[in-house]
Amino acid sequence: MKRSQFIKSSCTACAMLALPGITAMVLESCASLPSAKVKPDLATKQCKVPIDKFGKSNMLLLRINTYNFDFLVIKNTETEYKTLELRCSHEDQPLTMSNKNIFCTSHGSIFDFEGNALKEPAIRPLKKYKTKLSNNFLIINLT
Ligand code: FES
Repeated sequence: MKRSQFIKSSCTACAMLALPGITAMVLESCASLPSAKVKPDLATKQCKVPIDKFGKSNMLLLRINTYNFDFLVIKNTETEYKTLELRCSHEDQPLTMSNKNIFCTSHGSIFDFEGNALKEPAIRPLKKYKTKLSNNFLIINLT
């Protein structure tokens, strides 16, 4: 799925799933999430993300060239980060974010920001990638 398709489907899903009154808040969270696009280092199977891509947010939507799914990078503290692949653990469909959780529009699974499945049919957690901070860059290990 291309990034433009992802964003379009994500925002459409947000609009469809949000209850009246919180629609504006959910759509605002989609629109305000910073994003970045990087190339992986195929030799090391890592990618490097400048930390300033987060801006003032504690989350970053990441597109890595050659990967079919987007990633959500979450800043836990100033020095601790985690990366979740936005691929549903039920049947490998792209996931969508709200300000409260990550959800799948295909069959309704919901995940928390730790990647844990909160609502079936998905029962397995989302795939996590080791992420460390080094000299103002995040190094994400893609193995
Ligand atoms: S593919 Fe996500 S719930 Fe089925």
